[in-house]
Amino acid sequence: MAQLDHNAPDVARLLELDFLRCTEMAALNTLQWIGKGDKESGDEAACDAIRGMFDKMDICGNIVIGEGIKDEAPGLFQNEKVGKWRDGSAKFDIAIDPIDGTTNVSKGMPNAISCLAASGSSDGSTCLLDIPAYYMDKLAYSAEVAEALAANPRLPINLNAPIADVIATVAGIMKKEVRDVVVMVLNRPRNEQLIEDIRKCGAALRMIQDGDITAALAPALAESGVDLYAGIGGAPECVLSAAALRCLGGGMQARIWPRDPEERQSLIEAGWEDKFDKVYDCNELAWGEEILFCATGINESPLLKGVRFRGTTAITHSVLMRVKSGTVRFLFTDHNLKTKTMRLRSTGKATRLVGGGHGGIVTPVGDLSSASNGNSQLDG
Ligand code: FBP
Repeated sequence: MAQLDHNAPDVARLLELDFLRCTEMAALNTLQWIGKGDKESGDEAACDAIRGMFDKMDICGNIVIGEGIKDEAPGLFQNEKVGKWRDGSAKFDIAIDPIDGTTNVSKGMPNAISCLAASGSSDGSTCLLDIPAYYMDKLAYSAEVAEALAANPRLPINLNAPIADVIATVAGIMKKEVRDVVVMVLNRPRNEQLIEDIRKCGAALRMIQDGDITAALAPALAESGVDLYAGIGGAPECVLSAAALRCLGGGMQARIWPRDPEERQSLIEAGWEDKFDKVYDCNELAWGEEILFCATGINESPLLKGVRFRGTTAITHSVLMRVKSGTVRFLFTDHNLKTKTMRLRSTGKATRLVGGGHGGIVTPVGDLSSASNGNSQLDG
């Protein structure tokens, strides 16, 4: 593994707020689609704003993990180039989920965020594992549990142990009764047995309909009230969760879960056969010191509050964190809609935002960018 050069310029540190602007813009531009029953348009709006923000960034960005092969979404996809791609600009690999919880957005249900992980890639190698599978079986827990497990790896806190044993052990570590251990699970038929087993052992089951990045991070967040996240969810989401957990200090184990014989066969053909039994930890899904993670709440989730409005101010709630420093910043940001603009890729123009009590709308008001050579400093 390459040694960390402490004298090298820390480009990610300089650019981190611009990465955060990508998820902020995505959240703001998605509001118009909340509850409208149209998840594709929501996703498209998020991607349009993200691409527009990347167009202003002096980076060579490569999407290594996009929206995932399972989504036939109008999304940002693998190998898409983002940023200005000028000679000598810093290279970044990017894993992105413009909206985790597109269905939640379309139904007006909570638990939707926009998030990305970026990793400096000066030597051309990526630090974010692209798993060509739809799903992974996951188990995520707090830093306290991760520490107990590191001290005693024989503890039955793993994907092979019966969930009742996992829960009982976590209860012991957290000094709780089993009935008070809160376990979050994606409500899917493939998780039925797990759901039944959690109920049977008497723990507190909390099902979510969509959005398992925030669910995987919840046990690592002191205020979430969630102790464990378990079950089968998306593989790209797993890598994004791992990047965040490396900063937050929680732990996660994950294993590829082929959804049917066809997928199993295609994974074999792609050379992943010997990885079916492999249990990945966060460091194996998102490795190295150069990773940053940021997210903005679209609506309420265990990780972040959603966008709020106060008169002509839109308030976003975001988190920005980096592995190297271990700093986790929660940002509460006022966007003055009288002055703020957003650049959308689709129009190539700076767009004025208009928001309010109806969840916020975004209205283009002409090419505000021409006066500033397409690089208005008001954008974002
Ligand atoms: P999208 O918003 O990208 O569609 O993902 C929502 C989500 O619930 C993820 O959080 C989760 O990992 C995945 O879908 C589960 O996949 P599926 O809906 O196919 O069961």
